[in-house]
Amino acid sequence: MDRIRIRGGHPLKGEIPISGAKNAALKLMAASLLTADPLNLANVPRLADVRAMAELLMSFGVSIQVNMSPGLGEGDLMKLQARQITSVFASYDMVRKMRASFQVLAPLLARQGEAKVSLPGGCAIGARPVELHLSALQAMGAKIDLAEGYVTATAPGGLKGAEIVFPFVSVGATETAMMAASLAKGVTKIVNAAREPEISDLGNCLIAMGAQISGLGSSEITIEGVASLHGADYRVMPDRIEAGTYAIAAAIAGGEVELVGAAPETIASLSSLLVKSGAEVSATARGLKVRMNGSRPHAGDVTTAPYPGFPTDLQAQIMALMVVADGTSVIREKIFENRFMHVPELARMGAQIRIDGDTATVRGVEKLKGAPVMATDLRASVSLVLAGLAAEGETLVSRVYHLDRGFDRLEEKLSRVGADIARVSE
Ligand code: UD1
Repeated sequence: MDRIRIRGGHPLKGEIPISGAKNAALKLMAASLLTADPLNLANVPRLADVRAMAELLMSFGVSIQVNMSPGLGEGDLMKLQARQITSVFASYDMVRKMRASFQVLAPLLARQGEAKVSLPGGCAIGARPVELHLSALQAMGAKIDLAEGYVTATAPGGLKGAEIVFPFVSVGATETAMMAASLAKGVTKIVNAAREPEISDLGNCLIAMGAQISGLGSSEITIEGVASLHGADYRVMPDRIEAGTYAIAAAIAGGEVELVGAAPETIASLSSLLVKSGAEVSATARGLKVRMNGSRPHAGDVTTAPYPGFPTDLQAQIMALMVVADGTSVIREKIFENRFMHVPELARMGAQIRIDGDTATVRGVEKLKGAPVMATDLRASVSLVLAGLAAEGETLVSRVYHLDRGFDRLEEKLSRVGADIARVSE
């Protein structure tokens, strides 16, 4: 099995191209189920999760062609066409690999009037239930049956517009409601909608496909259903989590990196924290520049929150920075329970962290020491890579399939700017 080997202590210098956003691309791919016409997506990242979604969609009869771009920065072109849907069944084997697979439920139901999709089941970062998705569909007239680990949803008379009030913010449930409402009869109002940029990306793609949507980016989204959607060309937004991760890489390793293609406004909460920690962060014509002059970062407190708050998907990475900061930081995880699995691994490298419920108290140490560590989930695994950049000696990260799910050619991107990082197989 592959491992990533990092030898720490090298400052970074140069450009890192930012790929298309995983969390947008997966839902845009699912949206291809809503029309018989082709949906042409540009800037698709090359990731295991994208391949898993493609496989799932193909099992429904969607034809998919990919034109791979030669460079690191351009992203692939993907043409998806669901001319005829031949199956509405998503098996446990497919859905358990990747929770985002559940996002096929709403478009299958909206287009075909029925779908049978496995419940995602337990997940390494907490229970992650789907009751908000299901109640949104029920409000729109769907009949939902739960049996033997599967959701069977039907809407023989079609879906109807409804007012959906979410008790708390959910990215996935907002997307489910948007996709279902696009083809429902009448008007749907989503109250307490998620405001994540990936929601707007999905909404803008649906609009390009003929959907009638207003209020994107606010907590109230209104959708007037249309009888059918058509094909479109759409470019996936840049990945703000990838950009944020490399911004933290520059801060932790020192040096100066330009994140080419990044959208600075989508990581404002991180940028202000990095500035407080001593980094220089500036928007450029092509993205974002992050500079750290080699001095030790200052400690800072972080609480994760729905957008525009600090993203939970950057919590593990910012912890890696605070682990070597000057002072004590308090990091609160408010979105997912059990999202501190990186803590014992960081501790193996010399980090001083105390966990109490949803709060981690990090006492910064001057130096980390490289060690063999194990990736436990997508974002946790990249925090170990970041810690490895700052550590003395060699860090070997195992179970790198977690990284491959969500980071497009990470070791290539980092070694191009001077990191000593390589994939080793044994
Ligand atoms: C998406 C992202 C994930 C990110 C998360 C929060 C994708 C593929 N994944 O996940 O990377 O960390 O947003 O920004 O886009 N919840 C319920 N019931 C529900 C739905 C959610 O209790 O029906 C809870 C979850 O367990 C979690 C919280 O709500 O505690 C937020 O989850 P949600 O925003 O739905 O996250 P995902 O869409 O799964």
